[in-house]
Amino acid sequence: MEPLVELRNVSFRYGTAPVLDDVSLHLHRGQFAALVGPSGAGKTSLLKLVLGTLQPNQGDVAIDGKSLRNQPAPHVGYVPQLETVDWNFPVTVEQVVLMGRVRRDGWLPWHSKAAKREAHAVLERLEIDHLAGRHIRNLSGGQQQRVFLARALIAQPELLVLDEPTSGVDMRTAENVLHLLADLNRQGITILMTTHDLNSAAAHVPWVVCINRRVIAEGAPEDVFTDAVLSETYQGEMMVIRHDGMIIVHQKPHHHTHRDILPDPVPGHPAPRTAARSQESAEAPVTTEVPHAVAG
Ligand SMILES: Nc1ncnc2c1ncn2[C@@H]1O[C@H](COP(=O)(O)OP(=O)(O)OP(=O)(O)O)[C@@H](O)[C@H]1O
Ligand SMILES: [Mg+2]
Repeated sequence: MEPLVELRNVSFRYGTAPVLDDVSLHLHRGQFAALVGPSGAGKTSLLKLVLGTLQPNQGDVAIDGKSLRNQPAPHVGYVPQLETVDWNFPVTVEQVVLMGRVRRDGWLPWHSKAAKREAHAVLERLEIDHLAGRHIRNLSGGQQQRVFLARALIAQPELLVLDEPTSGVDMRTAENVLHLLADLNRQGITILMTTHDLNSAAAHVPWVVCINRRVIAEGAPEDVFTDAVLSETYQGEMMVIRHDGMIIVHQKPHHHTHRDILPDPVPGHPAPRTAARSQESAEAPVTTEVPHAVAG
């Protein structure tokens, strides 16, 4: 059977520095795959090549057997990384979701009752219908993620492409998003996502592709997540622990503590409360006595 997504010997660069080098990859209908690799590895660029918003310098990208050279990618739902969204754009949840129908409806200045009903059905499916009238800026990260997922789903895509759908949300929300994606995959949608969370990927995604400018390895997490593959992908020592059928990935334990890399004491820190004050710290400026504010 023809792959749904196929990259054939794709090389890509923005200027002169190569971003992707001779990448060949395919995804069959019904697959659920995660791209993993360090920052700058080319994950987002690869997604944009699949969406047809970037063109390869060499090689070819085809969706359903049709090269994207001369046409936009058909039926691809895209959920961007939340960090890249312009939150000042004044739109409600319902309006964002309805934007997803543009491909089907064209740019009409109004939306039909049927379109609105459909938008609410998708919002209900994602359990955020009660937020329909809210401005997207005033939602939590997990809710925003679902809004953009709803926008992608309303176009009834065969392929869903998501850039870091679990970044910027707490662990439980990330888990919910991944279960939601698994549900959608069971219903027949092919999924390609990126993530930095290797442990979640190992637990939820049946196919992982390790990239760093080129494909280092791909397969089931239990086969691909090894010390050797991950160390090569991340260019650093990675450690994989297998425990009770679980895969836990970690950077090799550090051989230093903060004491080895910062002055001791750190100048801005107040003296420890339990320690007896030396003459010197008692004379320190008042500001050093202010408890350290938690950033963010
Ligand atoms: N619009 C752009 N113009 C020039 N260079 C870019 C552009 N976008 C990305 N790059 C560069 O291309 C390389 C790959 O970027 P890309 O965004 O694909 O990486 P990534 O794997 O998605 O990283 P991250 O995990 O940080 O999201 C990086 O070196 C980046 O600086
Ligand atoms: Mg990226």
